[in-house]
Amino acid sequence: MTRTLLAIETSCDETSAAIIRDGAVSSLVIASQIDHDSWGGVVPELASRAHLRAIGPALRRALEEANAELGELDAIAVTIEPGLIGSLLVGVNAAKGLAVGLGRPLIEVNHLEAHLYSVLIDEPDLAFPYIGLVVSGGHTLLYRVDAIDRATLMGSTRDDAAGEAFDKGAKLLGLGYPGGPEIDRIAADGNPKSHQFPRGLQSDPADDFSFSGLKTSLRYYLRDHHPDAPPVGRELADLCASYQEAIVDALVSKTVRAAVRDGVPTVAAVGGVSANSRLRAKLREAGEAAGLGVHVTRPIYSTDNAAMIGLVGWHKLAAGAFAPLTTVARASTVRSSRGRKHQKKGSAE
Ligand code: KG4
Ligand code: ZN
Repeated sequence: MTRTLLAIETSCDETSAAIIRDGAVSSLVIASQIDHDSWGGVVPELASRAHLRAIGPALRRALEEANAELGELDAIAVTIEPGLIGSLLVGVNAAKGLAVGLGRPLIEVNHLEAHLYSVLIDEPDLAFPYIGLVVSGGHTLLYRVDAIDRATLMGSTRDDAAGEAFDKGAKLLGLGYPGGPEIDRIAADGNPKSHQFPRGLQSDPADDFSFSGLKTSLRYYLRDHHPDAPPVGRELADLCASYQEAIVDALVSKTVRAAVRDGVPTVAAVGGVSANSRLRAKLREAGEAAGLGVHVTRPIYSTDNAAMIGLVGWHKLAAGAFAPLTTVARASTVRSSRGRKHQKKGSAE
């Protein structure tokens, strides 16, 4: 018998809905909020209001594109944490409303866990274990993944997230928000060896990352060499390429090192920053040179989307892991300490 799941994601500035049928993505709608650009970042209040406007149409379109009826839904999965609380509330309340109205179970999904497993959407047969690098606007996390509900946190950033490093660097360079795609695009014409930026914690034995020194180094360079206005043309391209290279080198070297050291044959990069073309190329190159299998999520599944919520939701549906209607959205995840299980009993994390 065909089973159908509706998945909803509203944790930040993407309003997204997906229909999953028999474990596969039938439809995916992502409504991005581009109006944050002029503010140089996501404004929580604006994000919540935009979600309110977008959620109804997104749900209707996801159903239409999958040729699905509300009545055939078997469950509703939704991002419960972590994220902007006002944004999360829109998705969680829509999901609860549907669950009550249709008399169907509610499934809660941790956003980071969804990123971590998003590589399985296109590659459902990917063998465990793998080293999962989660790189997004708010998080830089390295996990050992042994099963769909068993991941161990190995390391994380000690200051800025990789996406934040891209976004803050782009802001210093006078580029728009989000800065990652801008730097990626402009860096394509630049020389990554033109400037030597620091690679944080490179020789540190911990699987942790640090990007604040890199950002400060760019700030000082611009203060000393371009005090009046950010550089343009060739100089801008070279700076973007060198800055990007420092972020990518730190991510790639720690990920490959952890896999080789622990005898894990596969690495996977997920989350918004894994859309970065240089990261994709260098991880593939370094991973394959070390004899590892390298997997990176397709860009559509690497930035925030409801399909990844649906993938985790699908496994919870199969396991009958439902949430009570009294469950509440949570802005932050209480993360277990390094090396311990990511999974908390009975909940998404
Ligand atoms: O996963 P995501 O969509 O949202 C969060 O959960 O944070 O990640 C957004 C982040 C932003 O910091 C954005 O600049 C970055 O992903 N990003 C990129 C690229 N595309 C998105 N960073 C570098 N290169 C890209 N091509
Ligand atoms: Zn995300």
